[in-house]
Amino acid sequence: MKPVISELARSILESIEPYIPGKPISEVAREFGVTDIIKLASNENPAGPSPKAIAAVQAALAEVHLYPDGAAYTLRQKLSARFDYPADGILIGNGSVEIMELVCEAFLEPGLEAITGPQAFFKYRIACQIMGVQPVMIPMPNYNYDVDAIIKAITPKTRLVFIANPNNPTGTYLPKAQVDRLIGALPPRALLVLDEAYFEFADKPDYPNGLDYVRQGKRVVATRTFSKAYGLAGLRCGYAFAAPEIVAAMHKVREVFNCNSLAQVAGEAALDDVEFLQATLKNNRIGLGDLKSGLTKLGLKTVPSAANFILTDFGRPIGPIFTELLKRGVIVRPMGPYDLPSCARISVGFKEHHQKLFQALSQIL
Ligand SMILES: Cc1ncc(COP(=O)(O)O)c(C=O)c1O
Repeated sequence: MKPVISELARSILESIEPYIPGKPISEVAREFGVTDIIKLASNENPAGPSPKAIAAVQAALAEVHLYPDGAAYTLRQKLSARFDYPADGILIGNGSVEIMELVCEAFLEPGLEAITGPQAFFKYRIACQIMGVQPVMIPMPNYNYDVDAIIKAITPKTRLVFIANPNNPTGTYLPKAQVDRLIGALPPRALLVLDEAYFEFADKPDYPNGLDYVRQGKRVVATRTFSKAYGLAGLRCGYAFAAPEIVAAMHKVREVFNCNSLAQVAGEAALDDVEFLQATLKNNRIGLGDLKSGLTKLGLKTVPSAANFILTDFGRPIGPIFTELLKRGVIVRPMGPYDLPSCARISVGFKEHHQKLFQALSQIL
């Protein structure tokens, strides 16, 4: 008898729960027959892409018959100048999510250990599992990482620790003193992957800058993205700062042309779009307040957020509420995969988006 295909696949795949992305607008339109749909499910920028990035992409379209610069030289130079950090310590990814995979491919193998948490970004566990490592999941009380518990869980086999700061999906952040403490406790063979996908939104005075640790020679890979604050999620462009030796290891495992040419020029142009970034951050500050007050008025519990979304606890199973919202053209993100079965993560939009959400919720609840 022929073996079934699932038996041929690597055994570790059986333990991998697939990542469930936010539902696309087109899918909701097909399934529910609604037209006026808002998506507050994937922490995208409600203002759209940076206009400077759009213009750069349009200008670069005529050259897409050529392979991109696999080394992303110009973008790395630009990031290097902007952040005053050497270009050979900067890695460009097909989104920052790819960098999670590259760091695992370069540094993990069966027998080694990785640490993250049940309410940490889902991609970390998948990236570890693909490399044959089940990450150690350290509980996250109060929706945040427990640095003491992480330090206790570190063993001589620990190679990677994954932390998002601010964290997705909780929106919480670890203050500098705690990140300092964690880094201080890392043994020489362990690296901290500090995921700063929401870096630009975090405006608290005690929020640490991952690049500072990298500059100080700490074993840190700090990742960032153009997907959120610059509105380029569809193009896939992220980057990491790390010691050049760490970056060199990741170059060995990355696909040569991992970041496409349009994403590269868009990233370069977006870095110059200071007005867009400022407007995005201003809208986010106002939007966080607006979302929080509207959700609180509806009797819902929210978690304080340093990012561009709010984790909301509905106090009852989220599934039926999610479906009712979809029927009314509102897409949020149910948090079952993060062991938060009564919660949804809601991205900051514009006032009119929030109004539509509040109105739908007041009918449903
Ligand atoms: C914490 C975190 N890291 C990384 C990413 C992925 O970003 P990118 O679009 O750069 O792959 C996300 C996206 O939601 C995220 O929430």
